[in-house]
Amino acid sequence: MPRKIKSSGSRKIDGMPRLVREGQRTRLVVGGKPFVALGGEVQNSSASDAEYMAGVWRRLAAMHYNTVLAPVYWELVEPAEGRFDFSLVRSMIAGARAQGLRLILLWFGTWKNGESTYTPAWIKRDLKRFPRGQTEPGRNTRAVSAFSQACLAADARAFAVLMRFLRADDRHHTVIMVQVENEAGFLGAARDRCAAADRAFESPLPKRLAAAMVAQRETLHPDIQRAWSDAGGRETGTWREVFGAAAEEIFMAWHVAEYIENVAAAGKAEYPLPMFVNAWLNYGEERPGSGGTQPGVYPSGGPVARMHDIWRIAAPSIDAFAPDIYSPWFKEICRDFVRNGNVLIIPECKAQTAAAHVFWAVAEHNACCFAPFGIDRPHPWGPSIPSEAPGLADSYRMLADMLPILAPHLGTPRVRGILQSGDERDTLTVGGLTVEIDYERKLADAIAPACGLIAITGANEAYVAGRGFSARFIRPADSREQIDILLAESGDFVRGRWKPRMRLNGDDTCGKWIQLKFLEAPEARRGVLYTHA
Ligand code: DGJ
Repeated sequence: MPRKIKSSGSRKIDGMPRLVREGQRTRLVVGGKPFVALGGEVQNSSASDAEYMAGVWRRLAAMHYNTVLAPVYWELVEPAEGRFDFSLVRSMIAGARAQGLRLILLWFGTWKNGESTYTPAWIKRDLKRFPRGQTEPGRNTRAVSAFSQACLAADARAFAVLMRFLRADDRHHTVIMVQVENEAGFLGAARDRCAAADRAFESPLPKRLAAAMVAQRETLHPDIQRAWSDAGGRETGTWREVFGAAAEEIFMAWHVAEYIENVAAAGKAEYPLPMFVNAWLNYGEERPGSGGTQPGVYPSGGPVARMHDIWRIAAPSIDAFAPDIYSPWFKEICRDFVRNGNVLIIPECKAQTAAAHVFWAVAEHNACCFAPFGIDRPHPWGPSIPSEAPGLADSYRMLADMLPILAPHLGTPRVRGILQSGDERDTLTVGGLTVEIDYERKLADAIAPACGLIAITGANEAYVAGRGFSARFIRPADSREQIDILLAESGDFVRGRWKPRMRLNGDDTCGKWIQLKFLEAPEARRGVLYTHA
């Protein structure tokens, strides 16, 4: 267990960023108002160069980003044990704040992509005090073991000192959330095989886990339910006895999550910002649900969708589990990550398709953060991970301008996202109305598929925004009434209000279509609907 750090976090802080649960939806509230982080994550090493970052803040603010996700490196924050240096963090906060940007800090501590490459040299060099995880007995990895109590204590202390430092920001709330670690879990095998891990694996299942699983039996992820019942549905026994073939991943999830719980709790005691963990996903090109890759190929025990229930039990200080989405299955992954009330935070995704995907994440799933990865400079691996996000500035501008109108309805059935993924047509229900979506072209393989949103904001009032589709409200199957357009107009959202431009009729609606056929920048329409026999 980490050394208990005296908390200084008892004073009430006005406008503290919070994730607020309201019925079925969760909202990020900053300074008392709902906030959607329209962000971008910088490349891994960018934030170590304050001078370079000065240009990044300016550029991203000009491109309508409202938030930047940037790492804080343990190796630079605590270069010698117990000696802390927050100059880079201080300059990040000042640089972001000067441009009106918010920050989500990423704590690169014990884990970064399943390894411990960001631990300070005094940890890397001391394998005796900070033992490594092992893929087989005696074979060390580059990752400190999740069973290293000394590393846990050191990480929790460093993180707590960072969070205490961030209290200086409590009047401005430039920093709105923190990602604790990065893509945690065990790489190279399904579980750690160091001696401490072997002992724990042969021990009985923790009573707390067993009790919570029994209480949550009905809502557990189907993969966990299946593993549990295939192994006989026991409530006691070793990990293998209770979970059979899935035991190793579940075991790692529990121990990695417990470790991170201790780190997060130590930080929250100092300054209770919302905290999340991100996942290296268990499917690449393969469709989610098809089995995916094997634990150990991705970090075993990391917060992939099927491990969320285990993580939730082990790590109550973690507010959300966030997917890093580089696979083509954007819609499926979002769906998997909102299960059991998880609020959607996308800290990393492909820049190339971000302009379209942001509409889906925000409108369909009430995401409170969306961020393509590596948007500040070309990726060191070359063009296989593009850093250009074509059209994203336009999408961000539209969503930000629209937010005051949209916010009360986000996370309710009155808002739906639109994202073309193959079909030429879609039918969806929004605000109790049925809508037919007619995509302008077959764009399934295009870099920028048709995208947008529909919001029903009043009795007969609809806003439709996006590009590459037309929308037609149609009579529900059980009704004799028809729905048509009484009034349609193009326009803009100016300081949170709708400013109409052109009154649309004739070829522009044919009495029933709201058309956004152009594929360049997203546009917005407001429609007033009426029904008649
Ligand atoms: C996922 C990691 O979380 C990021 O830090 C980065 O390494 C990307 N993968 C790939 O560039």
